[in-house]
This record gives sequence, C-alpha cells and structure tokens, in this order.
Amino acid sequence: MKFFIDTANLDQIREAQDLGVLDGVTTNPSLMAKEGITGRNNILKHYVAICNIVDGDVSAEVIATDFEGMVREGEELAELHEQIVVKVPMIKEGVKAIKYFSDRGIRTNCTLVFSPGQALLAAKAGATYVSPFIGRLDDISTDGLNLIAEIRLIYDNYGYDTQILAASVRHTMHVIECAKLGADVMTGPLSSIEGLLNHPLTDIGLAKFLADYKKGN
Ligand code: E4P
Repeated sequence: MKFFIDTANLDQIREAQDLGVLDGVTTNPSLMAKEGITGRNNILKHYVAICNIVDGDVSAEVIATDFEGMVREGEELAELHEQIVVKVPMIKEGVKAIKYFSDRGIRTNCTLVFSPGQALLAAKAGATYVSPFIGRLDDISTDGLNLIAEIRLIYDNYGYDTQILAASVRHTMHVIECAKLGADVMTGPLSSIEGLLNHPLTDIGLAKFLADYKKGN
C-alpha cells in the first residue's frame, strides 16, 4: 500500500519523507490556500518545491471546470515536473479531460469521487488514480469504507489498472481498514501515518528493556 500525505505544508511533507515511508503527496486548492499560497506563479513554484522534497507522485489540481481550460491547465502542470499527476474533478468535462490526458500519456487523479458509478467512469476514461473521499462520506453518516470495498470489487471484476487512492482519510483506523480492503494508496494527514506507530505495550516494553539494561550497565 502506498502512503501519500494530504497537505501542501512543506515542513510536514519533509517530516513524512524523513520517516522513509512516503510515496507521494496530494494537494487541493483548499490545502494550498491554507498554506497561504496564492497567485498562479506561486502555486506552480510550490508544486515544484513539493516535487523536490518527495520521490513519488504529486497531485496538482486544475481549477478550470470546462474541458479546454482543464486541458490547458493540466498540460501546464504536467510539464512542470515528471512527478506531477493532474488532479481533475469528477464532472462531465473532467471525464473528457481525463480521457484526453490518458490518450496522451499524462497521468491523472480523478478527485471528488463519492460513488461506485463515478469510480467506474474514471477507470473507463483511463484515470491513473481514483480518489474516493471516505472521511467526507463518514461526515454525512454514510460508510466511506464501504465505497472502497465496492470500487475494489468492480475494478477487480474487469481488471482496471486505475489505482484506488483512498482520500479524505482522517485517522489511523481509516488507514488500517483501507489496507484490509485492498486500497492501492491512502492519502491523509501526517497524524494518520504517525498514529500507526503507537501501541502502549511498545512503550511499556521499551521502558522495561531500558530499565533492565541500566541495572547491569
Ligand atoms: C484528496 O486528495 C483530498 O485532498 C483530501 O483527501 C480531502 O480530505 P478532507 O476531506 O479531509 O478535506
């Protein structure tokens, strides 16, 4: 399972990269705004800065919602760096754009996916990644993890190559459940990755080992 971090914060990206288990980064316009990154040039520079920290894929989202605009922006983003994956929303024009990019070897991440039907369309259009937002489904009392299971079943039935990128992961249990369900990738905050480290018996065991060592040394 690949681990992506869902942030535009360079310090957090560095911290995850330093842990040695990071496979990529996802961003979105809200995450960029949260870091105060505004203006086209600054945004493009920020994507390059992220690519220079991590070894893996970096999702950069288009703002346009019409086909021509998405193609224009997506091609500009893809040319920025070989690690860039163009993030395209699950709307009609977005599906057309994903097909356009996929026919030209430009990798895509279909975002804002909330149903199996949307995921099927993304795969048929040739998306590299599909991003079902599990946390936001949980927020409206709908089982987000069930969507991962449904998409896994559909993709396996037909052998689609599109990777299931479990997005809107909020905590460590989401990560574990997504791994059990066979999501190819998860993207979440640093805390969802670092939370995997924690077990009280590890802390108690280590304290005991160190105390016993100190007795004889
Ligand atoms: C996905 O790529 C999105 O950036 C993200 O996972 C959304 O997460 P949120 O629902 O926590 O904002």
